[in-house]
Amino acid sequence: MLYDNHGRQLRYLRLGVTERCNLRCFYCMPEEGLNFSHRSQILSFEEMERLTRILAEMGINKVRITGGEPFVRKNIMELIENISAIEGIDSVNITTNGTSLIEHLPKLKAIGIDAINLSLDCLDKERFLKITRRDEFDQVMDSFHALMDSGITTKINMVVMEEHNIDDIIPMCELTLQHKVSVRFIEEMPFNGGGKKFTPITWNARQILAHIQGHHPNVEKLPDPESSTSLNYQLPNAKGSFGIIPAYTRTICHSCDRIRLTPKGELKTCLYDGGSFSFRDFMRAGATDEEIRNQFRTLFNNRAKDGFEAQQKSSNPFESMATIGG
Ligand code: GTP
Ligand code: 5AD
Ligand code: SF4
Repeated sequence: MLYDNHGRQLRYLRLGVTERCNLRCFYCMPEEGLNFSHRSQILSFEEMERLTRILAEMGINKVRITGGEPFVRKNIMELIENISAIEGIDSVNITTNGTSLIEHLPKLKAIGIDAINLSLDCLDKERFLKITRRDEFDQVMDSFHALMDSGITTKINMVVMEEHNIDDIIPMCELTLQHKVSVRFIEEMPFNGGGKKFTPITWNARQILAHIQGHHPNVEKLPDPESSTSLNYQLPNAKGSFGIIPAYTRTICHSCDRIRLTPKGELKTCLYDGGSFSFRDFMRAGATDEEIRNQFRTLFNNRAKDGFEAQQKSSNPFESMATIGG
């Protein structure tokens, strides 16, 4: 088993499979993209599978395939299938922008993928173009409907941005009346690859909830599973539910069971951690499985109790979500 120095057991691996993305959501990366790493600097599938297998032997049972956009990586289905087959991994989830999901859905269903989180910030084609700087709205909506038909558990992640998609909060919430989907409203964080510093946000969790209650006074509170990122609710008679992720105004550090491996093979013990240890270099220098296990233990023995607080005290700039793995 793998524990940190605060007694928290690690169970959930977020595996970033690529830094690249075919969209340019302005809250995630600049128009010109990032200074993307060369292919040789990115972990191979074999390396990712090896680290996942070792972590599974240490008690990790859930993997989220994330990015960048996972489906822009060549032959990604091969990796997803192999990760799903690792003994001990009970749940494989994917976070995707949905632009090329549809063609992969039958295979994902056959492999037994447990859940897909679709990043979708609005329900309007024009606004989508402004936010993502790409004209892919129709493809994403097609993926959404195909997901609904597939029966795969689906969540929508909508980052709430004061000047861009406030008008979408209610329609997005009302999507849950007709569809068995969980819509999650996320406070915008400064991970935009532009070195943005902490600035207070107006549309925080409290304001989002008040806004929804203004339209639907009888919102019901649902239970929040331990280590859930979202506070969960439901509209009366809805087929689905909604959640609010106070990503910025509340930390979930106290119950955090997450490990992040970046596409380059750096370990992040926390979303806010600089990630200075390279498992890529360690493996390429010939590390044994035992040495890798010990290294995971050592690094988690030095985990900050509250990563956000540690970030505020450090001079580390905020990276892009795409290089962190969401
Ligand atoms: P589920 O496994 O379905 O609950 O998904 P998830 O919420 O763990 O993952 P997802 O990739 O859908 O991430 C949704 C949002 O949660 C991200 O945009 C972040 O804003 C937030 N988030 C994820 N991990 C962390 C974390 O460790 N700390 C904080 N503060 N926020 C996080
Ligand atoms: N703030 C909050 N959420 C973000 N995401 C990407 N960048 C940010 C940001 N700056 C979200 C995406 C995706 C999830 C993994 O992270 O919408 O759904
Ligand atoms: Fe791509 Fe997701 Fe970043 Fe948007 S938020 S640019 S979809 S990685």
